[in-house]
Amino acid sequence: MSDPMRPPVSHPRPTSLRSDPSRPRASLRTAVVWEVLKDALDRRAKAAGDGAHGARGLDVLDTGGGSGNFAVPVARLGHRVTVVDPSPNALFALERRAAEAGVADRVRGVQGDAHGLFDVVERGGYDAVLCHGVLEYVDDPAEGLGNAVAALRPGGLLSLLAAGLGGAVLARALAGHFTEARRALDDPDGRWGEGDPVPHRFTAEQLTALVEGAGLTVAAVHGVRVFADLVPGVLVDTEPGAMDALLKLEAAAAELPAFHSVATQLHVLGEA
Ligand SMILES: C[S@@+](CC[C@H](N)C(=O)[O-])C[C@H]1O[C@@H](n2cnc3c(N)ncnc32)[C@H](O)[C@@H]1O
Repeated sequence: MSDPMRPPVSHPRPTSLRSDPSRPRASLRTAVVWEVLKDALDRRAKAAGDGAHGARGLDVLDTGGGSGNFAVPVARLGHRVTVVDPSPNALFALERRAAEAGVADRVRGVQGDAHGLFDVVERGGYDAVLCHGVLEYVDDPAEGLGNAVAALRPGGLLSLLAAGLGGAVLARALAGHFTEARRALDDPDGRWGEGDPVPHRFTAEQLTALVEGAGLTVAAVHGVRVFADLVPGVLVDTEPGAMDALLKLEAAAAELPAFHSVATQLHVLGEA
């Protein structure tokens, strides 16, 4: 049951879905997560006594942040972002991207990984932790997520994005790979075969159990890329207005539990 004293959980707003209008395809992949995350960071900044506009900024940790798909836009909001990633190439690209966006002073890249997180960052030192597209690759997802949560300050927020099982099953089936689809359905890690590049996929129930098991309250769950990966690109690219209509459809479906089970990715917002 929802708590009337709690601020309302954020919902994606169709009017501002295009986080980067110059890259509409990228926006299609990130819009739902970006809108939920941006609203949550705004709320957290206000709760942290940052004033109406969050002028002081938050300390944000992006574990497995890669080349900064989220870290750089978060820094552009005025927050200080530490990216921990094992890949030197990704960290190099991050540095260049942050400089191009004019936020080099607010983005710090550190080589490290989710298991040894506290070898490189401070425990309990962050207002928000992003863990996007990483849990799929760590050996022990519960330990990796536990470390991400242990990096939070009291009242901090976790933004968790991970590959959804049902979306992969649907995509393999619609491509005519029925045996692979069946295998993903039966496999404990949700993999469709030896050639599957993703080591773990999750259901919404598994992700929320991991978040709650790490001691957080689940504030929201969204399905991400419910339709985008299934629609032929030509329909989106050539039909006038199709991209905007698809973005709005994704935003509307993201909130509905029925669509969580077929989403390519699942986003869980947790609160400490
Ligand atoms: C799919 S990319 C996601 C990048 C970024 N978070 C985003 O949303 O665009 C996965 C990232 O996880 C990093 N990674 C892989 N194993 C990791 C681990 N054990 N701990 C932390 N990061 C890891 C990779 O180097 C890569 O940058």
